[in-house]
This record gives sequence, structure tokens and C-alpha cells, in this order.
Amino acid sequence: MTAAPILVCERVSKHFGSLAAVDGFSMAVRRGEILGIGGPNGAGKTTLFDVVTGVTPPTSGRILLNGREIGGLGADRICQMGVARTFQLNAAFDSLTILQNVEVAAYYGRGRRGTPGFFVGRETRARALEALETVGLTRGLDRIARDLPVLERKLLMIAGALATDPEIVLLDEPVGGLSPSEIDGVVGVVRRLAETGVTVVLIEHVMRFLLALSERVIIMHQGRTLYEGAPETVADDPRVIETYLGEGATKRLKTYFAEHADAAPLPHAEAPHA
Ligand SMILES: Nc1ncnc2c1ncn2[C@@H]1O[C@H](COP(=O)(O)OP(=O)(O)OP(=O)(O)O)[C@@H](O)[C@H]1O
Ligand SMILES: [Mg+2]
Repeated sequence: MTAAPILVCERVSKHFGSLAAVDGFSMAVRRGEILGIGGPNGAGKTTLFDVVTGVTPPTSGRILLNGREIGGLGADRICQMGVARTFQLNAAFDSLTILQNVEVAAYYGRGRRGTPGFFVGRETRARALEALETVGLTRGLDRIARDLPVLERKLLMIAGALATDPEIVLLDEPVGGLSPSEIDGVVGVVRRLAETGVTVVLIEHVMRFLLALSERVIIMHQGRTLYEGAPETVADDPRVIETYLGEGATKRLKTYFAEHADAAPLPHAEAPHA
């Protein structure tokens, strides 16, 4: 018997005026899987994360976490129910240190609803340090967030998400703007966090990253699903090639899948829209 999905979207829409940014979108995320979401600029990927995490309410449709409707709840409540995310643009408390940022996340995360005040106890600090270790940030934790280079800012955001003790983490373009070797490092980070049992949904334009990690891929276009299936066959789908990958990236990906059955890093085939 298949276990019940952790997260379900049923015909979810989000309209901005006359624009349907997310348009009757449905998906079921299996517990423990790594699901990758790709698609051209403006496809509605970030808006989907926004409605799932309560940043903005859906216009219609149902969003279920462990069978419980969460659509329209506040972002704080949804986080405390076990859904964490990172943002496409770096988001942190710029004037706080690395450790302080993650301690805030650990304090206000799961299980803290209704606790007044702010106090970093031993347990909170331990959870923050554990999250930092998972992402590989172990040195210079007293550095101020605003001064950090891009990679460390990205890792800080992932650590903050993990420190809330989530069941599922949504990562919005975790490697955008990073170098190939930095990207390989983040592949390892995501694998480590998946090994802890956390379910991962990630949005990414960098196909070598998306396809290396994902067990299943959804390509979105105009708020809907254009492709859903195995990463190995994304580059065979003519609609995906036409609306997203283009011929160059498609060719590189096909060569890779033909020649390297498993192992080996993927070629740097970035979708042209990124
Ligand atoms: N707050 C908003 N108000 C009005 N329109 C919005 C708002 N947020 C997003 N949109 C529009 O909704 C559509 C989907 O945007 P979204 O940011 O979800 O795309 P995306 O797939 O994440 O793209 P990218 O790959 O560029 O990040 C776009 O046309 C965008 O302009
Ligand atoms: Mg986006």
C-alpha cells in the first residue's frame, strides 16, 4: 500500500486581477521524496510556493498537509505545522549574525505557537547549530548576515528553514547565481537534508541540479503542469523542449542520459530562460 501523500494541491488557482498565475494546478507530494519543479519565467512556480506556505491565500482549490486543509492559513501557522521554505531572493535578518538568524527560526518554528517573548534556551540553540551543521555552516557563526557571500546567504536560508523542524521544505531556486562547484556542494546539502527524513520540493532553472536530485519532475507553464514524470525523460518531451529547454540544453541532457547511466555529475545544462 502506498503511504498517504504529505502535501496535496487540488485544482489550486491564484489570480492577480485577470492573470491566473497558478491555474487549476494539482499535485501530490509523497512523504520523503525529492520533487523538482521547473518551467519558464512567470510559469507560476514561486506563486505556487507562496500559496502553499501562506504568503498569499489561494483564489480557489484545496491545499492539504497530512490530509488537513491549510489553504488560506497564515504563514506562521503553516510553518508551525511543519512546512518551511526558502526564497528566490535572499531573505535574512541582515543585521543579525548567522547564528542569531537561525536561532530566531528555531525559536519560532514548529511547536512554539503561542509562546510569548523571545528567549534562546539550550534546546533552541542546539536545534540552530544542528541545522547549520547540516548545511555545512560551522565557522564564523558570529558574522553579520548582510556581509555574507551569495553561497553562504543561500545556505543560511536553508539552515533557517531546517531549524523550524519541518516535515517538508520548499526550496525556491537554491542555486541560482552559484558557480558549478558551489552547485555541486548544494546538491550534497539537499541530499543530506533528505536523508534526515525531510520531504523536499525544489524549484530550479539549473537543470543539472534539478535532474540530479529529483526523483520526479514537474515542468510548469502558464500556471499548469506541462510535464510530470521521471527526470530521465524530461528532455524527450517536445512541449518541454519548445516552451522551456530549447534545443541546446535538450541535446546536452540527452547525451548525458545516454552515456552516463548513473553516477557522474550532470553537464551544465541550464535552461535558457533562467
Ligand atoms: N504579487 C503579484 N501581483 C501581480 N502579479 C504577480 C504577483 N506575483 C507574481 N505575479 C505574476 O504571476 C506570474 C507568475 O509569477 P511567478 O513569480 O510565480 O513565476 P515563476 O515561475 O516563479 O518565475 P521565475 O522563474 O522567473 O521565478 C508572473 O506573470 C508574475 O508577473
Ligand atoms: Mg520564481
